[in-house]
Amino acid sequence: MPRPTDGLDKIVIHRRGGYDRLRLERHVLPRLSAQDVHVQVHAAGVNYADCVVRMGLYSSAKDYVGWPITPGFEVAGVVARVGGDVTDVRVGDEVIAVTRFGGYASDLVVPRRQVFAIPRGMTMVQAAAVPAVYLTAYHAAVELARPKHGAHVLVHSAAGGVGGALVQIARVLGCHVVGVVGGAHKVEHAHALGAHAVIDRSAGRLWDEAETHSPAGYDVVFDANGVDTLGASLRHLAPMGRLIVYGFASMLPRADQKLRWWRLAWHWLRTPRISPFDLTTRNRSVMGFNLSYLFDHAKLLAESMGQITRWFDEGLLRAPAVSTFPLAAAGEAQRSLETGNTVGKIVLLTEHAQ
Ligand SMILES: NC(=O)c1ccc[n+]([C@@H]2O[C@H](COP(=O)([O-])OP(=O)(O)OC[C@H]3O[C@@H](n4cnc5c(N)ncnc54)[C@H](OP(=O)(O)O)[C@@H]3O)[C@@H](O)[C@H]2O)c1
Repeated sequence: MPRPTDGLDKIVIHRRGGYDRLRLERHVLPRLSAQDVHVQVHAAGVNYADCVVRMGLYSSAKDYVGWPITPGFEVAGVVARVGGDVTDVRVGDEVIAVTRFGGYASDLVVPRRQVFAIPRGMTMVQAAAVPAVYLTAYHAAVELARPKHGAHVLVHSAAGGVGGALVQIARVLGCHVVGVVGGAHKVEHAHALGAHAVIDRSAGRLWDEAETHSPAGYDVVFDANGVDTLGASLRHLAPMGRLIVYGFASMLPRADQKLRWWRLAWHWLRTPRISPFDLTTRNRSVMGFNLSYLFDHAKLLAESMGQITRWFDEGLLRAPAVSTFPLAAAGEAQRSLETGNTVGKIVLLTEHAQ
């Protein structure tokens, strides 16, 4: 059951910068409107996008919140209060909640439509790691790429959060999956998620190996690297192939490196310009999306979370591998993600988890 509380702890970033910008602060609990649910957060998911928010480069954070901001898209916890119109969620229920920012907190108040059941048998720590990466992967694969059974699919960063979810969802859809990872220590993890073949790109033969695994090219490539791989990902599409672009991590600094504007500009200039003439002649498509701008599409959110939960309940997806940090160590958690060495997901634990 929820514990009585007179305030909440949350991570607040007052301006762009390094890990020390993530400060733990005490705030008053927000008021509850009739459609709202107050969740006492046990676990909050950390996503690479949160690091980009801290760097001051995440456009929807600027568009919807500005500074100060509390990052975080997802939590799992116990329902502490419900608004007068909420009849199908009860105090004491263990739930997942999604939010457009604000998740790095001990307590979260969100509209009922952003609250979901935890898949069967999943712990709250695992559940907090599910929504952002599986919703992203679901949107990329099911709504946009729509690969046919037997399609050849290449997934970059296949041992990471979204990449790991993409490998699993592509397998559910009956695809032949080749995963790409940035280090030898990730190969086994990507295999265990279901990749038929895994390429360690740190060995330096990414595209030679990719051609060996699918000589006719790929029906779908999922790419969140940006400039480092985007051009080659496009060139390795088979006729009628689709490149799904959903991030630009390789433009950004690794852990403890400073954000250099000249370097960002250089990467921006090197980013391939896509020609409509080339797309037409070669029968290739490029699609892009950012889920945080689709957050108000309540039907899309409910349908996607519904299908993801059913796949977990049926045993078709498995809970992500999770490493944990205390909420107060959110900066350390982001540093760890920015090393590029992590597998699976990172989750922050609040005082309610003790
Ligand atoms: N468009 C959307 O709606 C949406 C939603 C969620 C996430 N995303 C994007 O999806 C990507 C993956 O997010 P995630 O939270 O699941 O993270 P993640 O994959 O768990 O971690 C990021 C991975 O990206 C690779 N990487 C390449 N350049 C990097 C750099 N400079 N710094 C750190 N990592 C780098 C590394 O994997 P390898 O070395 O193994 O390749 C690293 O492990 C991110 O680019 C994120 O912005 C987009």
